[in-house]
Amino acid sequence: MRRALILGGTGLIGRAAALRLLAAGWQVDVTGRNPAHMPCELAAAGVRFVSADRSDGSQLQAALGGGTDLLVDCICYTAADARLLLPLAGNAASTVLISSKAVYVDADGNHSNSDAPPRYDGPVRETQPTLPPGDMDYRSREGYGPNKVAAERVALDSGLPITVVRPSRIHGVGSARPREWVVVKRVLDRRGVVLLANRGDGVVHPTAAANIAALIETAAGKPGARILNCADPDAPSALEIFRTIARHLKHTWEEVLLDDTAPDTVGRTPWDSPHPVVLDTSAAEALGYRPAGDYAKTVAAEIDWLLDAARAGDRAGILPKAEDPYFSRFFEYAAEDAFLAGRTR
Ligand SMILES: NC(=O)c1ccc[n+]([C@@H]2O[C@H](COP(=O)([O-])OP(=O)(O)OC[C@H]3O[C@@H](n4cnc5c(N)ncnc54)[C@H](OP(=O)(O)O)[C@@H]3O)[C@@H](O)[C@H]2O)c1
Repeated sequence: MRRALILGGTGLIGRAAALRLLAAGWQVDVTGRNPAHMPCELAAAGVRFVSADRSDGSQLQAALGGGTDLLVDCICYTAADARLLLPLAGNAASTVLISSKAVYVDADGNHSNSDAPPRYDGPVRETQPTLPPGDMDYRSREGYGPNKVAAERVALDSGLPITVVRPSRIHGVGSARPREWVVVKRVLDRRGVVLLANRGDGVVHPTAAANIAALIETAAGKPGARILNCADPDAPSALEIFRTIARHLKHTWEEVLLDDTAPDTVGRTPWDSPHPVVLDTSAAEALGYRPAGDYAKTVAAEIDWLLDAARAGDRAGILPKAEDPYFSRFFEYAAEDAFLAGRTR
């Protein structure tokens, strides 16, 4: 039986990859620090949890054991992380390192985490320039992309069969930052109106964890050193995302499509972007990757997961907290109501 080891495998990507590989007959082991984070469905399906801190080389070696057919690293953020990965990758037939679209820069040097949003000429290919490598704090806005570039380079310079995967905005069951909650909560709050900035035109390409899992399985069967974008086969706008989720929840509301005269306190969404950010996925397709589904198909399980959690009073603590600043700016209901009242006056 083929074996897969997924580092940081108890989260969003690890869950989807483990379920996909299990269904294809693999034996799957996942690492993490806290066994309580192991998803029940993985444990029930026979996935083994191995306690190993990502920064401890000897714990990682113990998790690897004598070797593995597939090694997936979901938590490689820095060059130092990548250097710890290499001895393991040397004993793996194929390795996948999860990077990010945050490495890309446009012609003006803007990127996902710059103050000015990037403006690409069209769908971004793997040949698009990247940020220079860096070693500042990888948890900072300035440091995330440069550290990912540095990690990628260590991996690819090794000559080992490591597939670097660059996802866009990841969605799926188990997300630590479920952006779709912005729509689900609005439905649960029985809002009859949804306001969307910039007419809901913003596009930031979503990537289903299930589609990353499909690409991981493809890379497992075709080891090699390469970089591959990974994103859903469609790139819905904010308006289409709101419609998709509302339709799944059988909720109807009035759509108020705002222009740039509206105050910026209303109509914000996680998918706002003045210029589309779309990844070209033709390189993955040329390798044999076939997506698990489009946005509407792949997002459904996450929506049900969020809904179930809300109905159960969020006993597992997976829903964003009201005071979470990332999310609270999307629920400015008082400002929305004042804006709508002014509009009808
Ligand atoms: N979210 C996005 O939109 C997005 C976009 C592009 C790229 N990415 C990339 O996706 C990756 C994140 O994957 P994910 O969403 O599956 O992550 P996740 O849901 O946060 O899961 C990561 C798992 O790794 C474990 N972990 C964290 N730190 C660890 C450590 N030091 N040692 C051992 N285990 C550790 C965690 O469990 P414990 O806490 O129990 O250890 C957790 O279950 C990152 O490489 C990120 O750069 C994300």
